Amino acid sequence: MTSILKTENVHLYYGDKEALHGFDMEFEENQITALIGPSGCGKSTYLRCLNRMNDLRNNTTVTGSFRLGDQDIYAPTTDMTELRKEIGMVFQ
Ligand SMILES: Nc1ncnc2c1ncn2[C@@H]1O[C@H](COP(=O)(O)OP(=O)(O)OP(=O)(O)O)[C@@H](O)[C@H]1O
Ligand SMILES: [Mg+2]
Repeated sequence: MTSILKTENVHLYYGDKEALHGFDMEFEENQITALIGPSGCGKSTYLRCLNRMNDLRNNTTVTGSFRLGDQDIYAPTTDMTELRKEIGMVFQ
């Protein structure tokens, strides 16, 4: 199977509060992946990292490697519209 989306050493801080503590995750092409965990463990926070929605929040710092294919999601040259065509979200 081919990994289409790969993230490594993901950390996220809301101010000085660390919400994501450094983990790796891969998504396989043409597969369904579920994130399961208790309320407040960081599922939505992590998903928002994947299409840079956390960029819109003040006081939020994201570090780590986020790659969609061979594209660096957090590269300064990333076209956000194109990124969000590839990684969209539907909320509850
Ligand atoms: N904008 C924010 N500012 C500060 N802290 C936040 C913010 N959003 C989320 N948090 C905190 O970050 C942590 C992760 O929250 P998140 O909403 O990502 O969890 P979740 O796994 O999606 O929970 P749920 O299952 O309830 O949807 C929680 O401690 C939450 O209180
Ligand atoms: Mg959530």
